[in-house]
Amino acid sequence: MKPSHYNYHSNFALVFVILLAFSWATAAVAQTHDQFLRCLSLYSNDSSSFSKLVYTRNNRSYSSILESSIQNLRFDTKATPKPLAIVTPLHASHIQATILCSKRHGLQIRTRSGGHDFEGLSYVSQVPFVLIDLVNLRSIDVDVGNRVAWVQSGATLGELYYRINEKTRTLAFPAGIFSTIGVGGLLSGGGYGVFFRKYGLAADNVIDAHVIDTNGRILNRKSMGEDLFWAIRGGGGGSFGIVLDWKLNLIPVPPTVTVFSVTKTLEQNSTQLIHQWQNIAHRLPKDVFLTVVISKPNETIQATFSGMFLGRVDDLISLMETRFPELGLVKQDCIETSWIQGLFPNKTLESLLNRTAADKTWFKTKSDYVKELIPESVFAEIWPRYFNEDEGRYGSIVLVPYGGEMEEIPESQTPFPRRAGNMYKIIYTIGREEEENLDFQRYLSWIRRFYEDMTPYVSKSPREAYVNYRDLDLGINNRSGITSYAEASIWGLKYFKNNFRRLVRVKTLVDPQNFFKHEQSIPSLSSW
Ligand SMILES: Cc1cc2nc3c(=O)[nH]c(=O)nc-3n(C[C@H](O)[C@H](O)[C@H](O)COP(=O)(O)OP(=O)(O)OC[C@H]3O[C@@H](n4cnc5c(N)ncnc54)[C@H](O)[C@@H]3O)c2cc1C
Ligand SMILES: *[C@@H]1O[C@H](CO)[C@@H](O)[C@H](O)[C@H]1NC(C)=O
Ligand SMILES: *[C@@H]1O[C@H](CO)[C@@H](O)[C@H](O)[C@H]1NC(C)=O
Ligand SMILES: *[C@@H]1O[C@H](CO)[C@@H](O)[C@H](O)[C@H]1NC(C)=O
Ligand SMILES: *[C@@H]1O[C@H](CO)[C@@H](O)[C@H](O)[C@H]1NC(C)=O
Ligand SMILES: *[C@@H]1O[C@H](CO)[C@@H](O)[C@H](O)[C@H]1NC(C)=O
Ligand SMILES: *[C@@H]1O[C@H](CO)[C@@H](O)[C@H](O)[C@H]1NC(C)=O
Ligand SMILES: *[C@@H]1O[C@H](CO)[C@@H](O)[C@H](O)[C@H]1NC(C)=O
Repeated sequence: MKPSHYNYHSNFALVFVILLAFSWATAAVAQTHDQFLRCLSLYSNDSSSFSKLVYTRNNRSYSSILESSIQNLRFDTKATPKPLAIVTPLHASHIQATILCSKRHGLQIRTRSGGHDFEGLSYVSQVPFVLIDLVNLRSIDVDVGNRVAWVQSGATLGELYYRINEKTRTLAFPAGIFSTIGVGGLLSGGGYGVFFRKYGLAADNVIDAHVIDTNGRILNRKSMGEDLFWAIRGGGGGSFGIVLDWKLNLIPVPPTVTVFSVTKTLEQNSTQLIHQWQNIAHRLPKDVFLTVVISKPNETIQATFSGMFLGRVDDLISLMETRFPELGLVKQDCIETSWIQGLFPNKTLESLLNRTAADKTWFKTKSDYVKELIPESVFAEIWPRYFNEDEGRYGSIVLVPYGGEMEEIPESQTPFPRRAGNMYKIIYTIGREEEENLDFQRYLSWIRRFYEDMTPYVSKSPREAYVNYRDLDLGINNRSGITSYAEASIWGLKYFKNNFRRLVRVKTLVDPQNFFKHEQSIPSLSSW
């Protein structure tokens, strides 16, 4: 239809109104931004040095600082909303000032430690926001005599492990297996790794912390009280305040451990081995961590059985000969080494200090928990069907055995509820390297269909998930209105089961105005 004269005018008027509204909105944001920066300079008594820690959008270093620790390239595109300013505090007072000024001028904040959030929640927001990047707050103080360490949130696991190993070969910390993960985000959501069947989660081994709350107060374990101290050790990052540093309980490790790896193809009975693994791995002694990675790197689907044993190779071989003879583990599959080199087999120790992750991709991850044996037909039919689709070449599944110490810790000890009764966790991932005009939608569809097909075989009511594997498919807070308990419990119970109620109670007490918020932050309920 040809536009009439009348239509032309009304369209023109509409465009004019939109332009006007847009420039008002832009001007309002620009004004807020200026006021925010002025506010910061008022709060800081060392304002000249503080202003050097603030990067605004027109600064040449802004993009490189923003991108430095983005792990998931899905959230590093032109369309991704960017912060008005990035603050890189050197001191707690800089965080306090940023909180107070953001509040005063109605800006949201996002806090980033290592930037590994699967959904980019630490550096992306749909409303005007300021990014507090803790990259400069990463001191680590290891006290070998007392077997403890104080670590600031901005440190990476690689830095923490390196500093522990620098002082002693017989202490370690039970956290994740990827060196560039931030301490702040990992501890906030629980944190597991090769030692967790013997020593529990990373968060189980936190004995004190300093948190900056919504009023800018710095609280330690005593002054924050046991409720808040409970909530920050697994209730998920970005809900309760900004954790400045953590006091960790270090664990004893033998100076020599054994790492191993065996790969089996379909022709080598990988399907039967995975089926058998289900019954074996979670019952093994606490000293053994035996995980499985399934992928299709070329024409055949393969399963890699690998892990760490806190002992010598001969003891591992004889253990496996009795407990899992079908795997056929032999000495040639094993290496005796230190725990830290065992975690990162082909890396130099110095490279653990490198905060830039190699091989960044666009990815989506989902998690499941298994409490009953999955029938072999699932591994023989459903899994190969997905791996044989075009997208399957970019997919992988990791199986993480539970049991051991995890069976003995009560569900309510920390917000992380998956203790006794869990055989293993499934991690589904699909990832693509950067490519022009990459259409990630079909990969999202692949993982969502796969997850849907697994429904009958995994935990139910709720179908559980790990909060450190953030998945916004599970539900998000209402952006426009107030989120009710019923709405939030859709995803909240999946991550936290009955601990969700206590998290909401703590949140409502410590942050009633809901200042620390994101798509899946614990809601503050005024009517609670
Ligand atoms: C490649 C890869 C491997 C992984 N391997 C493991 C593993 O082996 N074991 C495991 O348990 N997990 C693993 N994870 C998940 C990881 O633990 C979580 O993504 C974790 O939240 C990352 O912490 P971060 O500091 O790097 O993330 P960030 O993105 O910086 O933060 C994550 C969340 O915590 C909040 N937050 C960050 N710092 C603070 C703070 N100081 N105070 C309050 N809130 C804060 C953020 O706002 C955000 O909501 C892995 C993730 C990736 C990408
Ligand atoms: C960018 O910001 C930093 C930190 O505030 C400052 O030191 C630097 O001079 C700025 N550079 C430019 C080109 O504006
Ligand atoms: C500077 O500010 C910090 C925190 O706001 C405060 O603790 C400190 O005492 C101040 N220093 C001076 C010299 O005013
Ligand atoms: C696979 O399993 C079958 C039946 O259990 C067995 O006969 C065969 O030897 C196994 N193959 C390999 C390569 O282990
Ligand atoms: C597939 O890859 C594995 C290891 O990545 C290798 O051992 C195997 O030989 C490859 N198979 C083919 C058919 O290329
Ligand atoms: C480490 O390097 C060796 C030799 O290059 C290789 O065979 C092995 O697969 C590598 N291990 C890992 C975990 O990448
Ligand atoms: C750190 O690692 C990244 C990614 O692997 C690499 O590109 C970079 O060169 C490394 N930096 C140093 C100083 O080694
Ligand atoms: C969000 O809140 C608004 C206002 O309270 C309500 O009308 C709407 O239905 C809510 N949306 C969702 C998805 O719950």
